[in-house]
Amino acid sequence: MENSRLGFIGIGNMASAIIGGILSTNAFPADRICMYDPLPEKMDRFVEAGAEACASAAALAEKCDVLFLCIKPQVFPAVLHDLKPVVANKNESNVLFVSIAAGITFQNLQDALGMQHGYVRAMPNTPLLLGAGATALCRTQNVPDATFQQISDIFACCGTVCKIDEAQMNAVIAVNSSSPAYLYRLAGLICDYAQARGIDWQTALELFCQTLKGSAEMLLKSGKTPQALVDMVTSKGGTTFALLGVLDAHDFDQTMRESFEACEKRAGELSM
Ligand SMILES: NC(=O)c1ccc[n+]([C@@H]2O[C@H](COP(=O)([O-])OP(=O)(O)OC[C@H]3O[C@@H](n4cnc5c(N)ncnc54)[C@H](OP(=O)(O)O)[C@@H]3O)[C@@H](O)[C@H]2O)c1
Repeated sequence: MENSRLGFIGIGNMASAIIGGILSTNAFPADRICMYDPLPEKMDRFVEAGAEACASAAALAEKCDVLFLCIKPQVFPAVLHDLKPVVANKNESNVLFVSIAAGITFQNLQDALGMQHGYVRAMPNTPLLLGAGATALCRTQNVPDATFQQISDIFACCGTVCKIDEAQMNAVIAVNSSSPAYLYRLAGLICDYAQARGIDWQTALELFCQTLKGSAEMLLKSGKTPQALVDMVTSKGGTTFALLGVLDAHDFDQTMRESFEACEKRAGELSM
């Protein structure tokens, strides 16, 4: 990828986070980054930083050899239709597609664009916006190790990267990609509860967020299993015991498992 140009199609939350990460860490020169979004304003701040705004997805594909597909799954058929004639004129082994969309499979992309291009799928999350993201990546077999590592390095500008198999790409959405929503929802509930009990909402947020960070450190560094850490907080007849008792009475674990399954199932439905 030494002389590659990176092209981003769809400059929404995720592409903005990735481009922002690249630019803030100087991981790739701004003048070799191109973008396309139907709303030019979404590209303005990156244009100011030296990246190039293109007039269409096809115009971008003319210039770039690594194409990041950062659009919603529903928009894929139309965008791939526009890209196909452009990439068909290129040497297939020189074009790499990186899709961040839920549910869009390698087979979908190969059917729409051709078998010989290289394809990478990424499943990122919104904390990428702060450089604190977590991204799962997989590739087709024709993507060389060095190229896959360079794509991994790009996502690593914005957080942690783990490589997995494509077969797990839909299941991983519940792990890192949709999971911020559970945590934000829980944060909202806890802070509202605290406020109703006279604790300042912002104070509760600060306490809860540090609890999230500290708990994450315990999970990663204590060497204990999640259940062992639950046991450390729970003494029989105590407050946590009472709290968990209510969750158990409502079959919390089964409800959560069903929510993970619904997430994975929906990703399957978004396949083209
Ligand atoms: N958000 C997440 O937490 C998350 C996590 C993992 C993966 N993803 C995946 O990332 C992808 C993008 O998500 P996002 O949250 O960044 O969405 P987003 O903020 O809606 O960004 C998508 C962008 O694409 C633009 N767009 C629409 N039609 C287009 C077209 N024909 N050509 C080029 N751009 C077009 C949209 O413009 P308009 O807004 O004007 O339509 C929007 O600016 C999705 O496939 C999603 O599955 C998202």
